[in-house]
Amino acid sequence: MKKRLLAGVATGLLLLNLSGCGWVADVLHLELTPSTTETTTEATTAPPTTLPLVTDPPATMDPNEPRIVGVSSKGYQIVEDHGLTYVNGVLIVNKKYSVPEDYGPGDLTPECSAAFNELVQAAAADDIDIFMISGFRSYELQTSLYNRYVARDGQAAADTYSARPGHSEHQTGLALDVNSLSYSFADTAEGQWLAANAHRFGFIIRYSKDKQAITGYAYEPWHIRYLGKGMAAAVYESGLCLEEYFGIISAYS
Ligand code: DAL
Ligand code: ZN
Repeated sequence: MKKRLLAGVATGLLLLNLSGCGWVADVLHLELTPSTTETTTEATTAPPTTLPLVTDPPATMDPNEPRIVGVSSKGYQIVEDHGLTYVNGVLIVNKKYSVPEDYGPGDLTPECSAAFNELVQAAAADDIDIFMISGFRSYELQTSLYNRYVARDGQAAADTYSARPGHSEHQTGLALDVNSLSYSFADTAEGQWLAANAHRFGFIIRYSKDKQAITGYAYEPWHIRYLGKGMAAAVYESGLCLEEYFGIISAYS
C-alpha cells in the first residue's frame, strides 16, 4: 500500500514534470505514459510464412507488402510487413528494428493488458504488489524523453538506457515498466517475484543484467515485454535474451 502511495506520488510528480519540473524525471529516469486516442491494432499477429525473399525491393514493389528480408543466424526468417519486423511471428523492436513513426495501438494491446492483469492478481495472491508505471508510449513522447536524456547525459550515454524514437518497445503496446525505475528493484521481493514468475503470464524481463552487450541496453529489472505464454516460457527457460534466442542483433546502423 505504501509503495502504491509512493507510486501515486511519483505519478503526480511525473505530471508536474510534463508541465516543466524536469528534474523529477531526470533524477529518477522516469518515463511517462501518454494519453492518446489512437485506435487499437494487434501487434502480435504474424504475417504468413510463405513469402518472397526480397532484401532489396524494386521501386515497383509495394513497400508495405509482406516479404522476407533475411534469415537470422539461427535460421529464422526475418519478415517485414508494413514497416514492422517479425521473427517467428514475434514483433521485434530493438536498436536494429524499428517501428514506423505513426505506428501505435495507443495503449497496451488487449492481450498484453489481460496478461498483465493476470500477473498482478497472481502476485497479489502471494502478497506481492506489482503495478504499472509506464505502458504505451507514442513516437512523440519517446522523442521528447530521448532528447531530454541526450541533452543531459550526451547521446552515447543516453543510448545505453533510452531507445531512440521508433526503437522503443513501449511504442508497440507490448511492453511496460513496473513498480520502480531503480536498479534496487531487482533486490526487492517484488523484483524477485517478477523475475521468477513473469514468464508464467507471457512476459520476459527484456533487458537482463548479463546481456547488456547483446540487447544494447543497461539492465532494466522493471521492463517486461509480452510474448505470450509459450514463447515467454521458452525464452525464459533458454536463459537467453530475445536477440540470442532468435539469432538477431540489436545495433543502430
Ligand atoms: N528504456 C527502454 C530501452 C526504452 O526506452 O524503450
Ligand atoms: Zn520500459
